[in-house]
Parts: sequence; C-alpha cells; structure tokens
Amino acid sequence: MDKLVIEGGARLEGEIRISGSKNASLPILIASLMADGDVFLENVPKLRDINTTLELLTLLGCQSHFNGHGLVEISAGNLVPEAPYDLVRTMRASVLCLGPLLAKLGRAKVALPGGCAIGSRPVDLHLRALEQMGAGFDLDSGYIIGSCEGLRGAHVIFDFPTVGGTENLLMAASLAKGETILENAAREPEVVDLADFLNACGARISGQGTSIISVDGVPSLSGCRYRVMSDRIEAGTYMAAGAITGGDLVLTNCPFEELEAVIAKFREMGVDIEKDARGVRVRAGKDLTCVDVVTLPYPGFPTDMQAQIMAVMCVARGSGMIKETIFENRFMHALELIRMGAKIRISGQNAVVRGGVELIGAPVMASDLRASASLVLAGLVARGRTEVQRIYHLDRGYEKIENKLSSAGARIKRVSQ
Ligand code: EPZ
Repeated sequence: MDKLVIEGGARLEGEIRISGSKNASLPILIASLMADGDVFLENVPKLRDINTTLELLTLLGCQSHFNGHGLVEISAGNLVPEAPYDLVRTMRASVLCLGPLLAKLGRAKVALPGGCAIGSRPVDLHLRALEQMGAGFDLDSGYIIGSCEGLRGAHVIFDFPTVGGTENLLMAASLAKGETILENAAREPEVVDLADFLNACGARISGQGTSIISVDGVPSLSGCRYRVMSDRIEAGTYMAAGAITGGDLVLTNCPFEELEAVIAKFREMGVDIEKDARGVRVRAGKDLTCVDVVTLPYPGFPTDMQAQIMAVMCVARGSGMIKETIFENRFMHALELIRMGAKIRISGQNAVVRGGVELIGAPVMASDLRASASLVLAGLVARGRTEVQRIYHLDRGYEKIENKLSSAGARIKRVSQ
C-alpha cells in the first residue's frame, strides 16, 4: 500500500489544473450503456473510481476504451443485467446502473451497496421511486433483483434531495413511457451535467438544477460526444490548500459559480478568491479566522468539503462550529486531526473547532476520500513530517494529487510500502 509523506511548512504558489469531475463522470459513464450508438466523453479524470466504473461497464456487456488523457469511448454491446458484489462493494455508485438496466432490459441484479465509513448510505429512495415507475424488487442474498414490464412515467416526490436517487431516476425516466416529474430533486451541478449528457443523447429533460425536473420519455437514445464538467470538490480542496498554507494559487479549468457557497465561506475566513484571465486566483495570509459551517444539499455548503474546511479552521484564529446534516458519521478525519494537535470537540452532528493551533506532523490514517484530503491539507501546514497511510482512498477521487501539490511547491511524495 502507498502512503504520502509530507514535510510541512511550504507556502503554495503557482498554477494547478483542475481535472474533470468524478461525481459527474460516474453517472455519465453508466448512462452511456443506454445509448444505441457510440459515446465519446472528454475531460474524464484518471481515477480509481473511473477504472472501477469501466470494469462495471465491461461486466454489463459494454466495450470501453480510456486513452488515459481524458477521452473515453463507450459502445454498449449485448447487455448483461448483473453488477456483482465484489465490484459494488468497492464503489457504491455502481447502484446507479439499476435505472439504466431496468430501462433497457426490464431487469437488473445489483448487489445492495453496503454502508461505508461515512454512513449507512441506504438506497430506499431509489427503489421506492423506481417502484412508482412500475419496477418490482426482491432482496436475495445481498442482491437487489429488479424487474419491470417496461417503465412508465410517474410523479415522484423524494423525501430527501438524494443525488444518486435523482440520477437513477433521470436515467430510468429518459426511456420510460410518458412523463416523469421528479419533485424535491437534487440540484447538484453533477446532476445537471448528467441531464445535459442525456439530452445530448436525445433525451427530453427540463428543469435540471431546480428541485422540479420533468422528463418526457423517448423510445431510444443515440450516441454523442460530451465534455464532462470540472470537479468542483477537487477545486474546493485546492482552494483549501492555498488557504491553509497562506499561499497564492491560480486554479485553471476551475469551476466558479458552482462553488458559490464554498467561496463565500473561504472569503468569510479572510481568503481572497477572484476570477482572473488565467482561472481562479486564491490568496491567503496568516490571519484567517474560523467560521460556522452547516453542510446542506446544493446550493448549500457541500458535505464533500466539510473535512477540508475543518482542516483550515484548525489553524485559523478563533473558533467555529461545523454541523454535518447529510451523513451520520462524517467526522472520522477529526480524530486524526486531533492526533496532530487540533482542538476539536465532537458532539453528535456538531464539531466545535478551536483554531489558532500549531499542528504537529504525525503518521495518520485515511478513512474515506475527503477525510484523506483533510489530512493532506493538515500535513501541508504541520510542523515536521506527516505520513498519510491508506491513500487508496485519495486515489479514488484526486488525480495525481502529489504531483499537483508539489508543482506548487509542496514538499510531498508518494512512497510505496
Ligand atoms: C453523492 O452520494 C456523492 N457521490 C457523494 O460524494 C456526496 O457526498 C453525496 O452525493 C451528497 O452530496 C457521488 O456522486 C458518486 P445522496 P449519494 O443520495 O448519491 C441519504 C464523495 O466524496 N439517502 O444525496 O450516495 C444518505 O444516507 C462522495 O465524492 C437515503 O437515506 O448521496 C445520505 O445521508 C461521498 N436513502 C443522504 O441521503 C436513499 O435512498 C445523501 O445521500 C438515498 C440517500
């Protein structure tokens, strides 16, 4: 297993290019199995989860080729409606093939994704909504067995604006008979990107980005060429890197509007973030102050940035409260930050961070994707050496993180153990 070794104290300066979005690429890759023609996707990041998704597509009967530099070509062959457990357990997003398989084949056998480090992660909202469209489900030996005599449009009201649930239903509804209305739908930019991709394939979706989405089912979807959006969470993570090191970074190929809530919080802390001709410039001094953060569905502050802003708050002045409202167990990084000297008190879904601390480098353990990122951020500013173990979590969602950081002056290297 690899680890990252970081010597803290370097101020980051220079340009970092933001890669394509992991959380837009995954559903778009899976949606490609619904297209009757070839699909060409650009700006796809080179990540573990992308490789896992391409493996899934192969198991489902698709051919795919990734040139390793952003371009993926997919052609759906004779589809096989089964996503096996040993693949689903490594990537929960595999459950997104449920909608497409039911829409294309009228049947699906998908391993029920287990929980993960951040929570139980049920898929009840996906299943209940698909049942409204005429699907029936059994649970057998850890697999969801779904079937339908063709999906029909329905009026779905989600109990919670579930990102994955909205994405599963968008794909299923695209080929259903009649109109589907999704109320209390997720508004995340990655959902919009999926809807725009499906429309490029001939789907008829409107309202994406709002909480009411309408889908007029069509008989078939064609292939297309589509460019995936940039990764707003990767971008937010590098904004945090510039902030925590008191650096001066220019992020290129960087989203801006989709990061409004994150940028507002960093500005409130005293970080200077502006668009300029080259991209988004992030400058910070050593006088940041803590803020209060509540994670919310989009356009609120994203839960996927909670661990990263917590790391920045550890070294900012004052104290702040972080309330995690999306997942039930998303403070694992706090326990490792405390081992580096952070002063954080967890009480249920709330974390109180007392800033103004000098973090001390230590061997730390990554537990999930964004927790790993927060430990890397802490290592960049900590006194001495930090070793982040189990960085396969990081490799799921951050393309070449050590290369991008070291190109901006960080003293970081990957060591294979
Ligand atoms: C997506 O997960 C993202 N993953 C997550 O990013 C992100 O944290 C999350 O959305 C919230 O923004 C991908 O896009 C691949 P949800 P998803 O369905 O779809 C509950 C990362 O770090 N819920 O919106 O699983 C659920 O338990 C990952 O890149 C139900 O109760 O998120 C959770 O508490 C981590 N029943 C909340 O809703 C359901 O049927 C949000 O889940 C579905 C969800």
